[in-house]
Amino acid sequence: MGCLQKTALCLLFLSISSSASNGQFAEFKCSDVIKKEYSENVTMSCTSNVMITNVTVGRCESCSEGKSCPDPFINTMAGIYFSEEKRIYLELHGLEVVLHIQKTNVSDQGVYQWFLHSINGHSYQCTTLKIRAPETEPNLTVNGTELVCQSPIGHQQRQIHWFDGHGTNLTGSARLVSEEAEDGLTRLTSTLHGDPHLNPFGYCCTVLYDAHTKRNKTKCLGADKAADYPSFPTASALGASKISQEHVATILVLLFLVLCSFAAVLYYKYHQRDASRRDFADLIRSLIPILQQHEKTEENPSV
Ligand SMILES: *[C@@H]1O[C@H](CO)[C@@H](O)[C@H](O)[C@H]1NC(C)=O
Ligand SMILES: *[C@@H]1O[C@H](CO)[C@@H](O)[C@H](O)[C@H]1NC(C)=O
Ligand SMILES: *[C@@H]1O[C@H](CO)[C@@H](O)[C@H](O)[C@H]1NC(C)=O
Repeated sequence: MGCLQKTALCLLFLSISSSASNGQFAEFKCSDVIKKEYSENVTMSCTSNVMITNVTVGRCESCSEGKSCPDPFINTMAGIYFSEEKRIYLELHGLEVVLHIQKTNVSDQGVYQWFLHSINGHSYQCTTLKIRAPETEPNLTVNGTELVCQSPIGHQQRQIHWFDGHGTNLTGSARLVSEEAEDGLTRLTSTLHGDPHLNPFGYCCTVLYDAHTKRNKTKCLGADKAADYPSFPTASALGASKISQEHVATILVLLFLVLCSFAAVLYYKYHQRDASRRDFADLIRSLIPILQQHEKTEENPSV
């Protein structure tokens, strides 16, 4: 028993010292979880204490121990350093390896499995990439007696709900169409029958991005009493303010014109008076010598 234990220990020591004589144990450390917004650039990396000689990277549903993803898209042994026209590429410099993904798609989401080779062993590592889909404002339009709420792009799980300005849920009577958009995203269009001019409470369309956190964006139409909702200017309010703005502009322009013409009249009159005064003065001035002469001629005969 003791002899066996000693032999085992001996073997273990031998194996350790033989590895040590070749250099250090290879240890690898990779990015764990990365969260990014849609269309941002991503870098994920692995470092090691020894020189990394070769790398394969594949994408899987989940990270499985000791097994590489079936179709690695990067394989330095085969000289494949990039994919998708260099949108995704690998840089390998000695102790570090970096995978760049530019302008991420939602379909880039998943588990990236690294198979890292070094002179002192190899290792499987995983990095999880999560991409948050764009959360655009809903677009609410009226088409005859139909209200159309569109969420042009976003992840599949989002929902469209309808309420009136009092918070009554109208979603049950709406019709939802989901279409595929680019990058594994969808376009949602929900149509509701109604007339915002007849319904005093108006209509609100809410796109719920996350049922768990209730993160949402809402647009309302004709909802004057939609106090419970983020207040978007309603169509009628928008129209009214536009009209009154136009009126104010017209009134200002008219007032300006009136003032201008008044000023012009004053100016003209003033000049005219000035001119006539000057004429009168000239007349007097020209008359004086005549009058004087006349006086003289009148004096002369008498003398
Ligand atoms: C909203 O929908 C209307 C009609 O479908 C369209 O003309 C407009 O461009 C859309 N606006 C946005 C911001 O998507
Ligand atoms: C509104 O009603 C629909 C079904 O008509 C339901 O699925 C949805 O959860 C309701 N929304 C809210 C916020 O209660
Ligand atoms: C929308 O978000 C607000 C908080 O910002 C929340 O109070 C409300 O319940 C959400 N609406 C829905 C339909 O989940």
